[in-house]
Amino acid sequence: MSQLKNDRLLKAIWREPVDMTPIWVMRQAGRYLPEYRAVRERAGSFMALCKTPELACEVTLQPLQRYALDASILFSDILTIPDAMGLGLKFIEGEGPVFARSMQHEDEINRLAVPDLEQLKYVYDTIQLIRRELAGSVPLIGFCGSPWTLAAYMVEGKSKHGFPQIMKMLQEAPFLLHHLLDLLAQSVCAHLNAQIEAGVQVVMLFDTWGGMLNTQNYQEFSLYYIKQITAGLIRTYQNNKIPFILFTKGGKSWIEQMAETGCDVVGVDWEISLHEARAKVGEKVALQGNMNPAYLLEGPETIRREVSQVLKSFGQGSGHVFNLGHGITPDVPPDHVRILVDAVHEISQSYHAQP
Ligand code: CP3
Repeated sequence: MSQLKNDRLLKAIWREPVDMTPIWVMRQAGRYLPEYRAVRERAGSFMALCKTPELACEVTLQPLQRYALDASILFSDILTIPDAMGLGLKFIEGEGPVFARSMQHEDEINRLAVPDLEQLKYVYDTIQLIRRELAGSVPLIGFCGSPWTLAAYMVEGKSKHGFPQIMKMLQEAPFLLHHLLDLLAQSVCAHLNAQIEAGVQVVMLFDTWGGMLNTQNYQEFSLYYIKQITAGLIRTYQNNKIPFILFTKGGKSWIEQMAETGCDVVGVDWEISLHEARAKVGEKVALQGNMNPAYLLEGPETIRREVSQVLKSFGQGSGHVFNLGHGITPDVPPDHVRILVDAVHEISQSYHAQP
């Protein structure tokens, strides 16, 4: 099995006994860290940072140098796939991602193809570099966006509240949208498998915008394609099982369906308690989450109180990966992350009774 010095994350995912609950933080490498902002500045742009393996590796490791985190996550972005498809991605300060070409017309969508993975080689080079630097200390998580979430950005051409263009396409041209989603499912599966072959030990799918759909549309336009991905994913690599974490922001009504996709972990936000989520999934999958990142703006006492709440809500035993319910925000004081990580490790021990 794995030769990791710290394999608490994998043990918790497989619901094997652990001494304490593992923790990592969505967006743990990011703008709340001054050392991230310095490297970002040096890179010149966000995409240049993603595309320079030495720099992407450096920022991946930054949070691990500060905190006792139980996992690292590849520094990259979900939008690297549409970028590799030739949409011309830029990140504009204060506006977020913007594509040179949005995908609203049939002829544009019909011209798209699964990207040549050579276009994403910088991601695999970064993974190899990170694995070398980590030297078996903690596992490395790779990731992609869900087809629905990627399509939302591609059809709109940028980030826009409610993504009106894809909602219009869903109503007026569902077959065209299905064609795009099918292409994206193949692309995501290929990119995740290539990440596994490059060395990631866990993969995660971010369905950030799944929660804006109603139940029927969530099944037809998001979950269906997630199942295509789990069906094509490498599940064992070099004798190690590769766990798959599925996170849908706003997915509280669909926890059971998410657990049925073939994933190993369901990531939840704070709109549902872990107690309720655990009752719904039973022994099927592990759970990841779900502290509201807003508490990280408060003082140490509030952070510790919330950590206690989340741990209590999951209850006794293994099967919980502590995380926030969504990404950490740039205004969080870095010291508060230390308080969070240490509190999880300290307080969780009483939930893992030693024989
Ligand atoms: O978690 C990590 O530390 C790994 C790195 C990571 C980034 N993006 C780096 C990033 C991961 C896992 C992502 C995923 C991602 N990217 C998602 C899904 C996760 C979620 O939050 O739900 C989405 C929707 C994106 C698309 C994206 N990337 C947007 C909308 C933006 C702009 C918004 C913003 O926060 O500025 C980004 C940029 C981005 N990706 C940054 C980082 C650290 C900030 C860019 C900067 O440094 O200026």
